[in-house]
Amino acid sequence: MAPLLEVRKVTCRFGALEALADVDFQLREGEILGIIGPNGAGKTTLFNVITGSIRPSAGEVIFQGRKITGERPYRICRLGIARTSQIARPFPGLTVRENVLIAAAYGKGLSLDRARSEAGEILTSVGLGAVADLTPTAISPASRRRLELARALATGPRALLLDENMAGLTSGEIGEMLGLLNGLRERGISMVVVEHIIKAVMGISDRIIVLDHGHKIAEGRPHEVAADPQVVVAYLGRRYA
Ligand SMILES: Nc1ncnc2c1ncn2[C@@H]1O[C@H](COP(=O)(O)OP(=O)(O)OP(=O)(O)O)[C@@H](O)[C@H]1O
Ligand SMILES: [Mg+2]
Repeated sequence: MAPLLEVRKVTCRFGALEALADVDFQLREGEILGIIGPNGAGKTTLFNVITGSIRPSAGEVIFQGRKITGERPYRICRLGIARTSQIARPFPGLTVRENVLIAAAYGKGLSLDRARSEAGEILTSVGLGAVADLTPTAISPASRRRLELARALATGPRALLLDENMAGLTSGEIGEMLGLLNGLRERGISMVVVEHIIKAVMGISDRIIVLDHGHKIAEGRPHEVAADPQVVVAYLGRRYA
């Protein structure tokens, strides 16, 4: 079966810095693909390229058989790719509910009435029903991570890109987030999970790719990647030590 999302030989330069160098990967339908690698490896840049906020210097991104490189971010969102951001930036003056409603209205193109009911359902499904009428600053950091997820879900994605959505969570909260992600997978949403919490990303991913200085240095099943000497040297060694 053709992949849902395909990144082909993407290179992204910022002046002399090559943030991504010839990166290739595929996300299959129903799959959770993990991306790991040290700080500055290019993980967030890769998400920026896929979602259209940065144009790559070379290469292309294919979604559902169609080239999306060069499309505007809102078009890519409407086609069915959503992301969460490493640094959550909800609208601080709106409530949690309104933040999700806006994402449904603009990201999915729903009427306000339909967006409101959709937002209510999503908030319940991610466990934010009780805090829906508070502002994002009044809820816990773990709830803000769920809000970031809810805003992405409200746009109706087929492919969801999660950028360190478990950073700063306790182990109990990480377990709950993993439970939510597994539920989304069962509902047919495919995911790319960028994460430094190795146990979490290794546990949930079907496959892992490893980025280092913009290069893909490994790809495989979690246990294969964890045993790869190059990956241990570039990244895992310090963490397992
Ligand atoms: N818009 C930009 N302009 C210039 N340089 C950038 C830009 N975005 C990212 N970079 C640089 O590209 C490299 C890759 O950054 P990126 O944020 O993709 O790394 P990352 O793998 O997400 O790291 P982290 O794990 O710390 O989040 C870094 O050296 C970063 O400073
Ligand atoms: Mg990053």
